[in-house]
Amino acid sequence: MLSGFVTFEGIDGSGKTTVSRLVKERLRSQGHSVFLTSEPTRGWLGETVRRGIEKGVSPLTETFLFLADRAAHIQEIRSHLEAGEIVLCDRYADSTYAYQGAHLVGVLRDPIRFLQRASEGWILPPDLTILLRVSPEVGFERIKDRPHKIPFEDVAFLRRVAANYDHLAKARRFFVLDAARPAEIVSDEAVATIERRLGSRSPS
Ligand code: TMP
Repeated sequence: MLSGFVTFEGIDGSGKTTVSRLVKERLRSQGHSVFLTSEPTRGWLGETVRRGIEKGVSPLTETFLFLADRAAHIQEIRSHLEAGEIVLCDRYADSTYAYQGAHLVGVLRDPIRFLQRASEGWILPPDLTILLRVSPEVGFERIKDRPHKIPFEDVAFLRRVAANYDHLAKARRFFVLDAARPAEIVSDEAVATIERRLGSRSPS
């Protein structure tokens, strides 16, 4: 039985939510215990993040709201990992590096470095991060008719976020999938990658 911490990342419209649900179903049908979660969380801290963003708080305030939500979420993730489950998380720390890394340009020098350092020592590192890569134009086309929950969604901004993801994806824990294809195909590849990467980890 596999266990480990897998995160799904990508710009808005990359299909993370659909793909992570399909991956959960497939892994469960193969007999694995799977806990699917997401950020911002559904709890009161996640609601506070959403409210803060709707109210237009500053990029730095927004950053600390996302970090506070994550700090609490990690306790829940850890308890599922300790129970031997695979934890799938639809957005996690790389979303902060990519999105707040774009929002904090002009506020701080080297925002991504700042955000990574602010996460050091308490963040739970994923075993695998699957980046669902689509062009900002495709991402925007997919989301343009959605009711706007969070106003981070214009093409120019998505371009900056996408560039940040491409930079982050050089780390070894990343696996990049072409997410312009149908969700079923992307999910199959994600499942194969999870089995390969989690299956080949040396026991800790
Ligand atoms: P969602 O659409 O995947 O629920 O995510 C909501 C928005 O929140 C999305 O535009 C990305 C943004 N976000 C950040 O800016 N920083 C973060 O750390 C997270 C988790 C999400």
